[in-house]
Amino acid sequence: MKKYLIIANWKANPGTAEEAVVLARMTEKQISGQNNAHAVIAAPFVFLATIRPLLKKTELGAQDSFWSDGPHTGEISWSQLKNLGVKYVIAGHSERRSDCGETDPIINKKIIALLQNNIKAVLCVGERERVSKEISWEVETQIKNALREVKEKSIKNLIVAYEPKWAISSGKDAQPVTPADAHQAFLYIRKIISGLYGEKATNGVPIIYGGSVNSANARSFLTEGNMDGVLVGKSCLETKEFGALLKAVSTI
Ligand code: PGA
Repeated sequence: MKKYLIIANWKANPGTAEEAVVLARMTEKQISGQNNAHAVIAAPFVFLATIRPLLKKTELGAQDSFWSDGPHTGEISWSQLKNLGVKYVIAGHSERRSDCGETDPIINKKIIALLQNNIKAVLCVGERERVSKEISWEVETQIKNALREVKEKSIKNLIVAYEPKWAISSGKDAQPVTPADAHQAFLYIRKIISGLYGEKATNGVPIIYGGSVNSANARSFLTEGNMDGVLVGKSCLETKEFGALLKAVSTI
């Protein structure tokens, strides 16, 4: 049975450790007994140690990482995260690209460090603006720059999330891409990765969709859109809504 990857990106939420515990317990409860989904909670750094003991079926994820430890004030390194039990790390989220000035060369360093050290790297790519219905060259450039110097053997730890910035729920007039457009993006991304590493290696790279995914549309991205999973922001913060989303996926 195919297992869909459902990544809950908590962003800078919730406000307290008590709320984080409630949210983690709820996700864990809802995912238990669900056979066709693999859930990851990408929590803020401050809650990772608190929620780790609560997660049995759900994997622990982080929203960012630094590529080395040592004298890097304010950073959290991949090895610190790995030591804490983090299995998945997001890299290149559009909010980090726009809010924190992360560039492709920075994202490339993060991706190399994660992949080489056996941490699943969730590389986020997507257009900043909606210029046309077609997926744009911007995505190709982001992927090629992020994977510079990445060896084929490391690709098994890669996940690519297609998440156009304009589709993220917090944006003005945000709306998700259609499942049909998500499928086009899926094919396009596969083609780029196949061009770099060949078809066989590419088959092992899950391609997921993010941007205003909710309980009403998640299923269609996985079925019509043929995506391998979804990256969920806002909808994973409301217990009822996220429960409904997981339930919708369980009916596939
Ligand atoms: P959203 O966020 O589901 O609130 O659109 C997704 C993300 O930014 O990862």
